[in-house]
Amino acid sequence: FGEQPLRGRRVVVSAGPTYEDIDPVRFIGNRSSGRMGFAVAAAARDAGADVTLIAGPVSLPTPPGVNRVDVRSARQMHDAVLAATEGADIYIGAAAVGDYRPSETAGHKLKKAGGEPLRLELTENPDIIGALAALPRRPFLVGFAAETRDVAGYARDKLARKGLDMIAANEVGEGRGFEVADNALHLFWADGDVALPRVAKTELARQLLTHVAHRFLASQGL
Ligand code: PMT
Repeated sequence: FGEQPLRGRRVVVSAGPTYEDIDPVRFIGNRSSGRMGFAVAAAARDAGADVTLIAGPVSLPTPPGVNRVDVRSARQMHDAVLAATEGADIYIGAAAVGDYRPSETAGHKLKKAGGEPLRLELTENPDIIGALAALPRRPFLVGFAAETRDVAGYARDKLARKGLDMIAANEVGEGRGFEVADNALHLFWADGDVALPRVAKTELARQLLTHVAHRFLASQGL
């Protein structure tokens, strides 16, 4: 970034999975490694921003110069994101937030049900980016959409339904999106879109931040 387009701006990024505990030894999680979100945080820092990274349970080193807050569950991520985004300019939600959690977390390790099916009741988690979209003074909101089919259709739907400023859609599945070192994104906003072909997540994050900075500054009339 030549002239650091986000100098003096506050950017909050979420990354990684959430873990929803079933009992003291088991949880419901997902395949997110945090690589995409950590690369986004580093790219926002390089664009000149003051960056806070809200990280789910991942084993990645903190990008130098980035403030990191570690969380485990979707509800913890919700509270950490809402606190960190107060007065922030941009929120980029790269985390794969669990949509559901067990309605009850057992205090002791669950025992086998003696041959009977074991039923687990799930409760919906709060929608973090949705909560931000409902605020009267909200940051510029960039969501991600992880889809296994009809990526563009679902992404445009999420952009409108969640009231976002931009959405970064990726196709996930066997060897794509989650865990691996490279990725491709298709960005959508109200009156435009651009496809970013598959490259290393570090490079892709820099391309994403160029578009985010451009759209954000335009939204400010700059
Ligand atoms: O971590 P990696 O291994 O590098 O993989 C990267 C990735 C595939 C996880 C990443 O590129 C990605 O797509 N992240 C979003 C995954 C996701 O959960 O997408 P979604 O379509 O379920 O959610 C849509 C948006 O709503 C996301 O911005 C998500 O952060 C947000 N959301 C979802 C649920 C919820 N309760 N609260 C939210 O804020």
